Amino acid sequence: MASRELIDTPTWRALVAHQAKIKDAHLRQLFADDPKRAEKFTAEGAGIQLDYSKNRIDGETIQLLLRLAKERGVAARRDAMFRGEKTNKSENRAVLHVALRAPRDEVIEVDGHNVVPDVHAVLDRMSEFADKVRDGSWTGHTGKRIRNVINIGIGGSYLGPEMAYLALRPFSDRGMTFRFVSNVDGAAFSEATHGLDAAETLFVVSSKTFTTLETMTNAKTARAWVVEKLGAEEAVAKHFVADSTNTAGVETFGIDTSHMFEFWDWVGGRYSMDSAIGLSTMIAIGPENFRAMLAGFHAMDEHFCTAPPEKNLPMLMGLLTVWYNNFFDAQTLGIMPYAEHMSRFPAYLQQLQMESNGKHVDLSTNHVNYQTGPIIWGEPGTDGQHSFYQLIHQGTKIIPCDFIGFMTPLSSYADHHDLLMANLFAQAEALAFGKTAAEFKAEGSPDFQTPFRVTEGNRPTNLMLADRLDPKTLGSLIALYEHSVFTQGAVWDIDSFDQWGVELGKVLALRIIPELQDAAEPPLKHDSSTNAAIKRYRAYKARR
Ligand code: F6P
Repeated sequence: MASRELIDTPTWRALVAHQAKIKDAHLRQLFADDPKRAEKFTAEGAGIQLDYSKNRIDGETIQLLLRLAKERGVAARRDAMFRGEKTNKSENRAVLHVALRAPRDEVIEVDGHNVVPDVHAVLDRMSEFADKVRDGSWTGHTGKRIRNVINIGIGGSYLGPEMAYLALRPFSDRGMTFRFVSNVDGAAFSEATHGLDAAETLFVVSSKTFTTLETMTNAKTARAWVVEKLGAEEAVAKHFVADSTNTAGVETFGIDTSHMFEFWDWVGGRYSMDSAIGLSTMIAIGPENFRAMLAGFHAMDEHFCTAPPEKNLPMLMGLLTVWYNNFFDAQTLGIMPYAEHMSRFPAYLQQLQMESNGKHVDLSTNHVNYQTGPIIWGEPGTDGQHSFYQLIHQGTKIIPCDFIGFMTPLSSYADHHDLLMANLFAQAEALAFGKTAAEFKAEGSPDFQTPFRVTEGNRPTNLMLADRLDPKTLGSLIALYEHSVFTQGAVWDIDSFDQWGVELGKVLALRIIPELQDAAEPPLKHDSSTNAAIKRYRAYKARR
């Protein structure tokens, strides 16, 4: 079925009609009508419990959404992905991040070649290297122990490593410093190296392509920094390693390929934090914890493949995203982890979801006539409550939110945890049920003020709970979102694994760079706005 016909299918039309009915139902009523609602709309998998009862749904909604998933071939597409078929159509590539966490004895083939042994060979090399750095047997050029690790990379070669390092800090070697350079703004490099001794610093250059402008620029600057500080070209060998698919590029840069950890073109950048791109994570938390994280990913992969659709967490989450995105015209999805260590999780999911599902043509290259990926944003709770939650509670927009909480605290200030969790539960409750004018009046609220105070409620949330934020749970949580993104993409019939939209800006920047750097100031042939900005920059640069 061509995608453009999607919105004319009986199921889609039934969902439109159903939305028209249910949009006026209030969660207050839906809960009052069914005392078992929470139980009915809770599912569990890979150590994560998803309570999706505070969504604007009833049993019929879920049945219709599951029918939509079936008709769109979500399960069949999932199986094709897991089999290693070239489901990334626009790049003619397999999509096999699931192979990165497959157990040693599994067989997953790409073009007839079992890739699982390759994955484990790299993991073993990474483990050996990480152990050497952690136990001090890998020393820098001067013989000093490595105490600082700086990951240089951007996008998927940065967000995952930084997010995972911050999330798993309690499991990391606290005697070491980990920093991340992504932005080409020289301020990023200068801050990342500030106060560090080059003799104790290891750079991990992470880039799938090893051609990305920002990463290559920062890597060259790092190389010059090391050579200048340590006074020897040979220092590069002990202070640089690379994670990449591009052996020739790594060699050309001057990193010995015996210090390169490889991955493969069937791993998308935003799906690569559990590949060699995770080397800095592994050095931070140790190989054993890294493998526990992979086991968490794998547990969710298994759940996605085996759980029945009505109990399948990624499918349900993906379908609920479709529900609000396409039937309620919700523009965004908020990600609110109630965990300080998860501060970069929303940013990580931003790339995962927006680069994957921000697409305007379907797999048959037709322009879609329905909405695709929502805008992803968020902040950890409780901070967001004192900032933007006001708009979620009383604004005019519908903003579905994912609330994420962990039962067991990792800090020694355990009494804070009750307050943190109380706030999490309270926010979900307040958003769902609100507070009426009558309730305020009964409490003696003055008439002039009551209308301002009313919170209507009926704001949808998912509540995800897990035991504690550890490597295994983090892996499961990330895989849950990966497969939710997959489910959405399958319904929309788009290529969730390419990212052509980012190319034009890169090409235009390459054209403008010489226009800023060439002292002869070549004539400008852009639009009048771009020309004016470049001229202004040139004038400032001349005065510097
Ligand atoms: O520009 C987007 C992008 O290609 C992302 O998809 C990717 O994660 C990032 O750039 C970095 O790419 P690389 O790992 O090849 O340096």
